[in-house]
Amino acid sequence: MFFRMHNCSRRSFSILFFGSLFFLLFFVRCNSGVKDTMISIAPVATAYDGSKYAGSQRCIACHENIYNEHLKTPHYNTSQLVSDDNVVGDFKVHNILKLNEHIVFKMIDEDQLYQAAFKDERFVRKEPFDIIIGSGTKGQTFLYWNDNRLYQLPVSYLNKSNKWIHSPGYSNDRIHFDRAVIPNCLECHTTFARNHLPTDFNSNMFVKKEMIFGVDCESCHGPSLKHVNAHINDPELKMAQHILDIKTLTRQQQLDACARCHSGLGRPLKMPFTFKTGDKLDSFRIPNYMPIDTTKLDVHGNQYGLLTMSKCFKRSESLNCTTCHDPHKNERQQSATFSQKCIGCHQDAGNHSFSLEHQEKLDCISCHMPLLTTSAITFNGLNSNDHSDSIKVRTHKIGIYGNELP
Ligand code: HEC
Ligand code: HEC
Ligand code: HEC
Ligand code: HEC
Ligand code: HEC
Ligand code: HEC
Ligand code: HEC
Repeated sequence: MFFRMHNCSRRSFSILFFGSLFFLLFFVRCNSGVKDTMISIAPVATAYDGSKYAGSQRCIACHENIYNEHLKTPHYNTSQLVSDDNVVGDFKVHNILKLNEHIVFKMIDEDQLYQAAFKDERFVRKEPFDIIIGSGTKGQTFLYWNDNRLYQLPVSYLNKSNKWIHSPGYSNDRIHFDRAVIPNCLECHTTFARNHLPTDFNSNMFVKKEMIFGVDCESCHGPSLKHVNAHINDPELKMAQHILDIKTLTRQQQLDACARCHSGLGRPLKMPFTFKTGDKLDSFRIPNYMPIDTTKLDVHGNQYGLLTMSKCFKRSESLNCTTCHDPHKNERQQSATFSQKCIGCHQDAGNHSFSLEHQEKLDCISCHMPLLTTSAITFNGLNSNDHSDSIKVRTHKIGIYGNELP
């Protein structure tokens, strides 16, 4: 609105000269004139409430640094279309997964990448790798299209041990190509996926053209087409238009913006992809807010639930996810940076009964937020004494675990 009036004002001035006879004519020309010169970017998708997504490609022009950092994050890479080089697993030598004496899967590279199932050495079925879920930090799961219906493939990949595994939760006694991918599964791993049946929690029919992969800018900032159009049309605007300033939200609202995907697999109450940053999470899903058993951490580790159990959280006013995390950066293996965040509140570096060596001062998290083995996720083919494949996650229950660096 603002820039339209601004552009119009000079012409509006001339209206005074030509008198009321021409008023109507000029009014119309003024408005249409502005429309002609106004750039209007086409949306890449339309949210259920009618607001429109611009796509993160549009953000580069004005937020180049943030965009370039964002490309390196597991958020951005957490889902994508399969291309020549983004499936990590091997298709040539170690391309076989044997479930039992009868069932074998082969990963094959033909005109496209496929998973093929064989029973007693006879071919049963094959389906293509179409979509990847998971940045590959821990693993990748794959989806395929059957017309506009989306399904999960039976074989996933575990990066840590570089091997194909039967997808988590699948039983080894049969060949599964029939697990439907419902909106709830995509909600945390894509920015938007429009369903053909917008009120059906169990529908796996998606509008292919309106899927936005990755946890992209507009996942946290909301559909931003209005913001983009406003700033493209008036580059002089210094104040951000039509976009939320997350810093002005309450602590709980800011926490909920992350907890929406980082409080474990709760049960949805409202349709996926209707939550917007600033909303209260309670009304969208039955959350895992209550204290949880830390021996049951899974790959979907409940960082929110664990953090809120810590004294650091309970006894401070401000601690939230962005106290330690820059939401735009990949901060893996930067323990020294994290230590600085701890020291921000613990100026004495913890007042220990023992003295910390220099290196330990840079590594508060090894002792106070240790990596713990998940037990809630198990992979078939693993015997209970073999933990070589188990995934370790960083507990967010900050506490006292021992004085030995692991
Ligand atoms: C034509 C320029 C332009 C484009 C394109 C653009 N922005 Fe902005 N944006 C601005 C300006 C100007 C500001 C205000 C100054 C600042 O904070 O950098 C801003 C501010 C913001 C803010 C901070 C809001 C606040 O008050 O804290 C967010 C978040 C944001 N933009 C997100 C986006 C996203 C997401 C995209 C892409 C979908 C995008 N912007 C594309 C110009 C643009
Ligand atoms: C729409 C869902 C979603 C939202 C919202 C979200 N995340 Fe995530 N986040 C994910 C997913 C999915 C992953 C795992 C990506 C992967 O490895 O495939 C992840 C991974 C991460 C990681 C681990 C990165 C790494 O190096 O492995 C951090 C840290 C993180 N998120 C912090 C945050 C914070 C802080 C917020 C709030 C500002 C937030 N996330 C909001 C879905 C989300
Ligand atoms: C409530 C949000 C949520 C839902 C629903 C969800 N995920 Fe996740 N997923 C995450 C988060 C967050 C992580 C990263 C956890 C971490 O790094 O500790 C993750 C991690 C993963 C990873 C490992 C990625 C990596 O390399 O680090 C895979 C694979 C995965 N999810 C697949 C799925 C599939 C398949 C579904 C649907 C059946 C699903 N997820 C549903 C939030 C979710
Ligand atoms: C995982 C959630 C998440 C994603 C993805 C994300 N942002 Fe942000 N962004 C935030 C949060 C949270 C803040 C507020 C940071 C704070 O509290 O200091 C923020 C702040 C901003 C700001 C205000 C200036 C600043 O540096 O704090 C801009 C501009 C912005 N984001 C643009 C983008 C753009 C462009 C992208 C994609 C390239 C993007 N964001 C992706 C969560 C996210
Ligand atoms: C926003 C401020 C803040 C930040 C950041 C913070 N803490 Fe704390 N932490 C506190 C407060 C407040 C307490 C409670 C102190 C008390 O009650 O005496 C606390 C308590 C602790 C305790 C005692 C826990 C217990 O169960 O007895 C440990 C250990 C600790 N913090 C370590 C850390 C580490 C390590 C980091 C960085 C990863 C960190 N803190 C970051 C504020 C913070
Ligand atoms: C080698 C493991 C180790 C490292 C590294 C370590 N701590 Fe501790 N920390 C402990 C143990 C064990 C305690 C239990 C109390 C004690 O023996 O001093 C403790 C206690 C604390 C406490 C609670 C003190 C109290 O009075 O209740 C805080 C706060 C704390 N550490 C913060 C930090 C910070 C900040 C860092 C990084 C600069 C750090 N710690 C590095 C093992 C460690
Ligand atoms: C006191 C500091 C602190 C706070 C607060 C914090 N984190 Fe973390 N987070 C860390 C550290 C340290 C790591 C480990 C980074 C590494 O291993 O490189 C981490 C790792 C993660 C990971 C990757 C987990 C894994 O096991 O690989 C996710 C996801 C994450 N944080 C999400 C969140 C979310 C969501 C919040 C808010 C609910 C949050 N964090 C609050 C310090 C913090």
